[in-house]
Amino acid sequence: MNIVRTIAELRDQVALWRADGHSIGLVPTMGALHKGHLSLVDEISANASKIIVSIFVNPTQFAENEDLDAYPRQEANDCKKLEASAASLVFAPSENEMYGTGHKTRVTLDGISEILEGASRPGHFDGVATIVSKLLLQCMPDIAIFGEKDYQQLAVIRQIVRDLNIPVKILGGTLVREDDGLAYSSRNAYLNPLERKIAGHFNLILAKLVEAAPASNDLRALEDQATNELLKAGFTSVDYVQIVDKTSLRTLAALSGPARVVAVARLGAIRLLDNMEIQS
Ligand code: PAJ
Repeated sequence: MNIVRTIAELRDQVALWRADGHSIGLVPTMGALHKGHLSLVDEISANASKIIVSIFVNPTQFAENEDLDAYPRQEANDCKKLEASAASLVFAPSENEMYGTGHKTRVTLDGISEILEGASRPGHFDGVATIVSKLLLQCMPDIAIFGEKDYQQLAVIRQIVRDLNIPVKILGGTLVREDDGLAYSSRNAYLNPLERKIAGHFNLILAKLVEAAPASNDLRALEDQATNELLKAGFTSVDYVQIVDKTSLRTLAALSGPARVVAVARLGAIRLLDNMEIQS
């Protein structure tokens, strides 16, 4: 797999491709690639003739008490997986290349970055917005893809692209699940066998809520029921289960339009995220 580590090399390669008339797609990742990431590469390949996969564990989106040092780094293995994909190039910059001495700028958003994941992880989305803005400006792709697995992240990215007038199309990638329905995540590898079994209940409990929601006149009761079911299934705690508007991610009093259930449950120190569409 062809790897570049500097912004200058990345831009030279993109310029050569542009001169040859190629369209460019970007798949931002933090590495430790699994089937969810690889499916993003596959999905974007219908819309771009050259695909850049970035691998960068972004320190600014981790809080001090979070798992930055423990985050899995498996570059050689990731590149092997990408060999068998439609990826054309890996961009794997150092921390110094991305945030050299004197780096001062931070991209922050109001509203959408402060609720749900933003409330549980203050500052997280500023880190994401900053690094994604930088990656988009470094690559200047025609299109970039982000998974619906991180549904709020996708909404945040659509917002910054709109607000900063970054000329790129943002594609939402299908959430890919393991055989029992658990959403693929690099954090799944930390689950012990018992926790992994419990984790398999997450999507089933949310699917039940999704099925019941259209006929319900008390969405809060459905959220409470799902929370209780998660705790009963063995989850240690539940950060939130919320039925929200598909675009603003604000809590809905009633199902009046496109909606989504978004949820985070914990098994010990491991936070699992999931979300599903609700048909109204
Ligand atoms: P990371 O967690 O590595 O995820 C990279 C991309 O893969 C994100 O767009 C994420 O939504 C997507 N993804 C993860 N699991 C998925 C699954 N099961 N199905 C489909 N897509 C999945 O998200 C990040 O990195 C970072 O915040 C990043 C955007 C790279 C900025 O640092």
